[in-house]
Amino acid sequence: MGVYAVTGSASGMGRQAADKLRAAGHTVIGIDLRDAEVVADLSTAPGRAAGAEAVLAACGGRLDGAVLAAGIGPTPGATGLILQVNYFGVVDLLEAWRPALAASGAAKVVVVASNSATTVPAVPRSAVRALLAGKTAKAVRRLRLLGPGAPSMAYAGSKIAVSRWVRRQAVQPAWAGAGIRLNALAPGAILTPLLEKQLATPGQARAVNAFPVPVGGYGDPGQLGDWMLFMLSGAAEFLCGSVIFVDGGSDAYFRADDWPRAVPARRAVGYLLRMRSFAKRSKPS
Ligand code: NAI
Repeated sequence: MGVYAVTGSASGMGRQAADKLRAAGHTVIGIDLRDAEVVADLSTAPGRAAGAEAVLAACGGRLDGAVLAAGIGPTPGATGLILQVNYFGVVDLLEAWRPALAASGAAKVVVVASNSATTVPAVPRSAVRALLAGKTAKAVRRLRLLGPGAPSMAYAGSKIAVSRWVRRQAVQPAWAGAGIRLNALAPGAILTPLLEKQLATPGQARAVNAFPVPVGGYGDPGQLGDWMLFMLSGAAEFLCGSVIFVDGGSDAYFRADDWPRAVPARRAVGYLLRMRSFAKRSKPS
C-alpha cells in the first residue's frame, strides 16, 4: 500500500480521490484550508512552503503519488488568487515533493487542469508566458486590463500554464527518468461545490448552461475520482505528459481538427534538433 498526498482533499474531486485511495487501503495526506491532515493556505508562498514541508515530514521523505486538486473557480475580484492557487499551488508543491516522489521509484502524479485551457477563447498569451516564467505581478497586470473578464481569463490562463508545465516537466530526466509519471486530467463541468457556486450566480449559471456539452449534463465527481485512481495505478506506467480530457465532448466539439496535427514543415528543423538532443541525452555515458 502506498502513501499519497492530495491537495484540495476536503471537497469535490480531491475529496473523491482521497476517499477512494483510503478505501483501497492507501495512506492519504490531505492538504486543504480545513478538514485535512495538513491545513495550509496554498494561495501564499509561505503557506505553500509550510504545507509542502508538513507533507514531507508526514511521509518520511517518500511519496508513491500525488493528486493536485486544490483550486478556485473564476471568482470575481480573485484574479491574483486564482493564479496563486491554481498554478503555484501545483508547481511549488510538486517541485518541493519531487525528491520524495523519486524516492518511491514508480510514483504517479495527477494534476487537475481543466478543459477551460482549450475552450476559452482569447486568453492573453503574454499572461500565460509570464506565469510560466514565474512573473506573477506581470501576469496579474495583463489580466486586469480585461476588466470584468479578468477572473475567467485568469482561470483559463492558470490551467493552460499548469498543463504546459506538466507537459514540459513530465518528459525531463528529473521526472520521467526518476520513474515519476506526471500527467494532467482536464475535466469539463463537474458537479462539485466549485460548480455549484457558479450555478448559484445568475450570470455565471447562464454561461455554464449555454456551454456545449455533447453528452449533456454535468460530470460526476466520483467518476473523476475513478479516473484519478486509474492514472495513479500501474496502468499509467507508460502515460507521461498527457492531458486527459474527461469533459463530455466539449473540447472535441470546439477543436476536433486542432489536434492531432502533423508537425508543420516550418518546424521540421526544430523537431530534428530535439530528436538529436534526445539521442545525446539517452546515450549511456
Ligand atoms: P471544490 O471547490 O469542491 O474543491 C476545491 C478544494 O480546494 C476545496 O476543498 C478548497 O478548500 C481547496 N482550496 C481552495 N483554495 C485553497 C487554498 N488557498 N489552499 C488550500 N486549499 C484550497 O472544487 P472541485 O470542483 O473539486 O475542483 C478541483 C479542481 O478541479 C480545481 O483545480 C478546479 O479548478 C478543477 N476543475 C473543476 C471543474 C468543475 O467543474 N468542478 C472543471 C474543471 C476543473
